[in-house]
Amino acid sequence: MTKPPSLDGAYDLKTPQDSIDLYAEWANTYDTDFADDHGYVLHAHVARAYVNAGGYQPVLDMGAGTGLCGQALRDRGLDALDATDISADMLKVAETKGLYQTLFVGDIIAGLDVADGAYAGAVSSGTFTHGHVGPEALDELLRVVRSGGVICISINTEHFAAHGFEAKLAALDPMCREISKVEVPIYEGGSGDHSNDTAFVTLIRKA
Ligand SMILES: C[S@@+](CC[C@H](N)C(=O)[O-])C[C@H]1O[C@@H](n2cnc3c(N)ncnc32)[C@H](O)[C@@H]1O
Repeated sequence: MTKPPSLDGAYDLKTPQDSIDLYAEWANTYDTDFADDHGYVLHAHVARAYVNAGGYQPVLDMGAGTGLCGQALRDRGLDALDATDISADMLKVAETKGLYQTLFVGDIIAGLDVADGAYAGAVSSGTFTHGHVGPEALDELLRVVRSGGVICISINTEHFAAHGFEAKLAALDPMCREISKVEVPIYEGGSGDHSNDTAFVTLIRKA
């Protein structure tokens, strides 16, 4: 019997196809069994930081999943939002919420079918984490955002240390006006092995 989707399973992914398979199973229960049950708050931290940094539009939500970060941006008054994710099943759930103008399947690592500088900003919550997306995808975020645009993403703190984000951000520094990070909790009031996990909400302002 296959195990039901779980946080441990999500942290144990190895390939993009693993993400597609796991989130196909998880899409319809992700908001309740994952976000509500674990007290997931990371999307709210990312949305707040993005809006505080200027809240530029249009904005692309990368690894948008079921649209939790999109909902948090809408709650803060933004409405020119697009969404992309490697999982068509997660995007199908997001689409039912009517948050995004355009939703499209795409792999941030392989590259998106988006023109250079098409967006004023980009956000991503919960996607730069164990088994998902590493620092190599930061180039693609910078590519799709116009000059002066803002990128606000969460990076799991352990993943940050293990996968060379510091070096990658240093390499991107000449292309940016600002790179800063603040550590935040991923969950509030949850229990279990990951309840105290943190992430860096990382803000990049493109030169
Ligand atoms: C933990 S969920 C986060 C979803 C949403 N942003 C949130 O905060 O609830 C991670 C998402 O990243 C997506 N993902 C994983 N690898 C990806 C890739 N290479 N390109 C685009 N999306 C990816 C998954 O399909 C999943 O929807």
